[in-house]
Amino acid sequence: MPGVVALTGATGFIGGALCGPLIRAGWQVRALVRRGSDAVLPTQIECIPGDLDNAAALGGLVAEVDAVIHCAGVVRGRCAERFERVNVGGCERILRATRAASPRARFLFMSSLAAREPTLSWYAASKRHAEEAVQHKAQALTATVFRPTAVYGPGDRELRPLLRLLRHGLLPIPGSREARLTLLHVHDLVAAVLRWLDVSPPIAGTFDLHDGRAGGYTWQSLAAIAGRAYGRPVRALPLPQTALSLAGSVNLRLARWLRYEPMLTPGKLRELRHPDWMCDNGALAAALGWQPRIDFERALREGLIE
Ligand SMILES: NC(=O)c1ccc[n+]([C@@H]2O[C@H](COP(=O)([O-])OP(=O)(O)OC[C@H]3O[C@@H](n4cnc5c(N)ncnc54)[C@H](OP(=O)(O)O)[C@@H]3O)[C@@H](O)[C@H]2O)c1
Repeated sequence: MPGVVALTGATGFIGGALCGPLIRAGWQVRALVRRGSDAVLPTQIECIPGDLDNAAALGGLVAEVDAVIHCAGVVRGRCAERFERVNVGGCERILRATRAASPRARFLFMSSLAAREPTLSWYAASKRHAEEAVQHKAQALTATVFRPTAVYGPGDRELRPLLRLLRHGLLPIPGSREARLTLLHVHDLVAAVLRWLDVSPPIAGTFDLHDGRAGGYTWQSLAAIAGRAYGRPVRALPLPQTALSLAGSVNLRLARWLRYEPMLTPGKLRELRHPDWMCDNGALAAALGWQPRIDFERALREGLIE
């Protein structure tokens, strides 16, 4: 039976994709929205101004809720401290607030498959540390960790440039041609969250999520799929590794100097070059009866990208 759900990250890609389906499913949505945000959320959503540093805002957000979906986090940055402060500290603070205000709520932390490889990047380490906080500090809350692989779909900003290049017949390859990749369409992630909210009794544990394609993808297979979907050849172009490494290092130095939050960094490159991002939906499918429906070919053919 839907009740009140607290949502963080509602102004971002994944949290934003959750808003409409949650409302349509009958949930009363309360969202944490940072001051100064110009995002427009559906009018049915109760907005709580504040951020993950603000204990009073978090207290208001999670007061007497049935569920908390913690999607807010940073995916780019120029130092480890930023990732730890927002992704780990923020997760600990919302956990604490939920324990105090709604100890019977179910709690979902949107982690990342990157948490499986915490030595690759500051981001990956911060997601692992946040998972550990959820595992050790949830106490009586029923806490669940979702580990989605790379998520794409309408509203995504990070993969959009790559998908645009694909449409123009080009796929730059940042790592090994043999690397095994996995993907997840945001609609399938949203469906999993809705099942997680409904399932009774609530489930605890850590679960991988991807689109279910057996064997995953290689960069080459992504180019072939795009070629079929768009009806013309897509050229897979291996990027020169030394130049790419240099670009990552220079971008990080520039970001520290000019004070912006970079995406292309040595850590992000280690993530992109990692040879094995395979994962397994079995545990989540068994726990929720959830099955992904959209693989990359269907997403391209049906225009489910932007
Ligand atoms: N996208 C993927 O491929 C992917 C894959 C696996 C896991 N994830 C995880 O899923 C979560 C959401 O990712 P996303 O792609 O939706 O990211 P996103 O589009 O960058 O959105 C991030 C959200 O977090 C909010 N946020 C950032 N710092 C905050 C703070 N200090 N206090 C309160 N809110 C803050 C942002 O608010 P503003 O709008 O105000 O900036 C925004 O709503 C992240 O935790 C990420 O690690 C993403």
